[in-house]
Amino acid sequence: MKTLKDFNVKGKRVLVRCDFNVPLGKQGAILDDFRIKQTLPTIQYLIKKGAKVILISHLGRPDGKVVEGLRLTPVQDKLMEYLDVSITKASDCIGPEIKKWIEEMKPGEILLLENLRFYEEELKNDIGFARKIAEMGDIYINNAFAVCHRNQASIVSVPKYLPHGIGLSLEKEIKILTQTIKNPQRPLVAVIGGKKIEKTKLNLINKFSENGDWVLVGGLVEEGIKQKNIKLEHPQKIVGPIDKIEGKDIGPETIKLFKDKIALAKTIFWNGPLGKIEEEKFSKGSKEIAKAIIESGVFSVVGGGETVKFINQLGLTEKFSYVSTGGGAMIDFLADGRLIGLDVLK
Ligand code: 3PG
Ligand code: MG
Repeated sequence: MKTLKDFNVKGKRVLVRCDFNVPLGKQGAILDDFRIKQTLPTIQYLIKKGAKVILISHLGRPDGKVVEGLRLTPVQDKLMEYLDVSITKASDCIGPEIKKWIEEMKPGEILLLENLRFYEEELKNDIGFARKIAEMGDIYINNAFAVCHRNQASIVSVPKYLPHGIGLSLEKEIKILTQTIKNPQRPLVAVIGGKKIEKTKLNLINKFSENGDWVLVGGLVEEGIKQKNIKLEHPQKIVGPIDKIEGKDIGPETIKLFKDKIALAKTIFWNGPLGKIEEEKFSKGSKEIAKAIIESGVFSVVGGGETVKFINQLGLTEKFSYVSTGGGAMIDFLADGRLIGLDVLK
């Protein structure tokens, strides 16, 4: 795959697929700007090199209709605040008016296009729509790791019509996650929680038990495995809870057991809360495990929407070695070693 730095971007119109899918509060305020911050180095690089920067993204799930509350305006404000430059935002993502604006763009300027998912063509991977988007750029850069598992136009089809490569944060995601699953410093301990046990999560558990040493699983994950009568590939490496709090969190004995394993690790991966963290009284297990991972001081990788939100709320994000922007995409990438959105960039 080509990376951003393999291109001569001077004076070129560079379409950057970002993942600005950030959580919004009732008044439209951004509750967590982690994903926006992750895109800044790519944008800053492009400005410095004199590219005409055209940012494209989705936000939420408007299902192919214009939803006023899902416009990218709060993202525009945040980007302007962090980059300290003025950014023009279009109220659509295709159309003659935008084309005209792009013709008038000067090197180093930034244009943010409106939410791609206002068009059902984006969701349906419509080729005509993809072509319209592609026509606006000279180069396509994907920096949206968290959406690379989606078969959508801006991810899988736009790059077919343009020279393409990956942005800086996507490059880092691939590098760190690949190393974590394929070539970790061992012992490798994976902590896997969450509510459901679907096929990809099962693959993830098997992958980590194959390449790692222990997989510590939360209560609901363990129950799911039992209920569905699933045969794990390396059951001897799976460690489940030995006590629980009302069935909604891991108990003190389990916390101790998990901490003992974590203390032996040289690499730790964590995805999915270990209890019903929406309720304060069931968040203790996850808090204790977060602290234990940090205190171990070893290389730690955390990912998944809920888990990342949780550590952010605790103000602990900076304390982990690496925090992935991906949820479903990260699980798929680790479990299967590939993503549809990356395959097309090869
Ligand atoms: C995410 O937050 O998971 C990505 O931005 C993809 O969004 P989606 O799950 O709505 O496709
Ligand atoms: Mg998702």
